[in-house]
Amino acid sequence: MKPWDVAVVGEIFADHVFTGFPRWPRPGEEVVAEGYVRELGGGSVNTACGLARLGRRVRLVGLIGDADFDWFEHRLSEFGVGVGGIRLEADGTGITVSVSMRDDRTFFTYPGANRGLPELLTVPAVIADLAAARHVHFAMPLSRELAAAILPVLRAAGCTTSIDVGHTPSWLQDFDNVATCREVDLFLPNAAEATLVCGDASAEAYIAWAAGHGLARTVLKRGAQGALCVADGTLNSVPPPPVDAVDTTGAGDAFNAGLIDAWLDGEPLGLALERACICGALCSTAPGALAALPHSPQLRTLRERTYRS
Ligand SMILES: Nc1ncnc2c1ncn2[C@@H]1O[C@H](COP(=O)(O)OP(=O)(O)OP(=O)(O)O)[C@@H](O)[C@H]1O
Ligand SMILES: [Mg+2]
Repeated sequence: MKPWDVAVVGEIFADHVFTGFPRWPRPGEEVVAEGYVRELGGGSVNTACGLARLGRRVRLVGLIGDADFDWFEHRLSEFGVGVGGIRLEADGTGITVSVSMRDDRTFFTYPGANRGLPELLTVPAVIADLAAARHVHFAMPLSRELAAAILPVLRAAGCTTSIDVGHTPSWLQDFDNVATCREVDLFLPNAAEATLVCGDASAEAYIAWAAGHGLARTVLKRGAQGALCVADGTLNSVPPPPVDAVDTTGAGDAFNAGLIDAWLDGEPLGLALERACICGALCSTAPGALAALPHSPQLRTLRERTYRS
């Protein structure tokens, strides 16, 4: 038996979130925020925490600055995420500063230690860390070169795989990466990302694109509309449960966690979408990506209420 259910690898950030500015400053001016929180961030952290909250044995693989290790270890241990796959860099943790105004949000990002990720993924010990899990989730725009080297090794080690590259137009519009979409078990774009891939904003066009390019199954995240999938020739469309969404940051990452959790149970993809949509929807009911991730009893209860009544 493998020691981990899931290894999640990708960019890791320290998020600094400022809220309550009276207005955007003019160049050279200072404005004072009413609120500030710092939290771990990045799709890899969000999905790892979502899976651990659901009871999965999860290891996070990525790079942070040594000065932040105690903070990360403490916060990740609150979710039960294993930190044995994290490596330290002198460069400093990647940072995102998020500035929220009344109806808009602006981000400033410093990649920091994340710049070492491609090189990290050439280290045999790191590949072995990934291969020790039943499923490997890439929360990053994995280059074609690395994918071609790593995916066959993981498959040979009995791992299944998924990838969420986030909003990375260069990756999504590069035809070479279609092979990666085909080689993973689950390619997980949202609507905007699927549009970049297939050049058309309709779900039908993306479904046709995926079928035409030989993807074994299609999954499409659709925000407040829920999600759809095509597997074994069957189309399933699933709405999210009704929630009061206050902040959808990380909803897609929480969705990934729910989907992978169901995948590991061998649940058919159409049903797996229910778990995924509940996780995404609940995530959006509190500020930030980590505050409202569900545990299994919550998920089960809401699932029975939403989809079985
Ligand atoms: N406003 C909402 N109300 C209810 N559920 C939502 C809402 N927004 C997102 N969700 C749920 O979360 C899932 C993923 O959301 P979305 O399609 O926005 O992913 P995403 O754009 O990748 O998100 P992220 O901002 O994390 O990258 C949806 O399929 C849906 O189930
Ligand atoms: Mg996303």
